[in-house]
Amino acid sequence: MRPKVASESYTETVQVVLPNDANSLGFILGGTVMHLIDIAGAIACHRHTRTLLVTAAVDDLQFLHSIKVGDLIILKSRVTCVFTTSLEVQVDVFSEETLTGNRQLTSRAFLTFVAIDRDGNHVRVPPLLVETDDDRRVCEEAQARRAERLRKKMAIGSLGRQ
Ligand SMILES: CC(C)(COP(=O)(O)OP(=O)(O)OC[C@H]1O[C@@H](n2cnc3c(N)ncnc32)[C@H](O)[C@@H]1OP(=O)(O)O)[C@@H](O)C(=O)NCCC(=O)NCCS
Repeated sequence: MRPKVASESYTETVQVVLPNDANSLGFILGGTVMHLIDIAGAIACHRHTRTLLVTAAVDDLQFLHSIKVGDLIILKSRVTCVFTTSLEVQVDVFSEETLTGNRQLTSRAFLTFVAIDRDGNHVRVPPLLVETDDDRRVCEEAQARRAERLRKKMAIGSLGRQ
């Protein structure tokens, strides 16, 4: 499998927040932002793997600022680290005021996707080419998050057996 650099799958999506996306205060719904994060993360991972994918985990999510109707919502997704059949993607969400161009980071999410075939079997994903010190740091941080995620999964799994 041909290794790929993160820039090959890097994805930026932009859309305007419409009244249908908003709560009664005129701010985009948290659930809508989560939906867009899932899609933005999946697109970058599809571009890296060129396989079917399922979302395995979404790390905890914070909403630092509200995004109002008429603002742009921008999602930047970057594959941070690739494991065997799974990979992690970082999705940064920004608001942008259309009249001023004022841009703010509103959320940062880390998601894990697992590559599958049409029968649901897990399949290996192409390696990520780590080229710079920054790429290396990002991947090391992803490995630490992965360990914590799998620890939490084990803890939740043991609840299911009670
Ligand atoms: C996610 C899922 C495929 C994992 O299947 P599984 O058989 O329990 O997983 P395994 O223990 O064999 O692990 C497979 C890979 O997924 C990773 N993984 C599994 N659960 C994970 C989790 N909660 N967080 C992070 N990684 C996870 C493993 O680390 C492993 O990665 P690797 O091959 O790169 O080392 C399975 O639980 C599933 O299908 N869940 C539902 C997914 C879904 O419906 N998502 C929403 C709609 S797309």
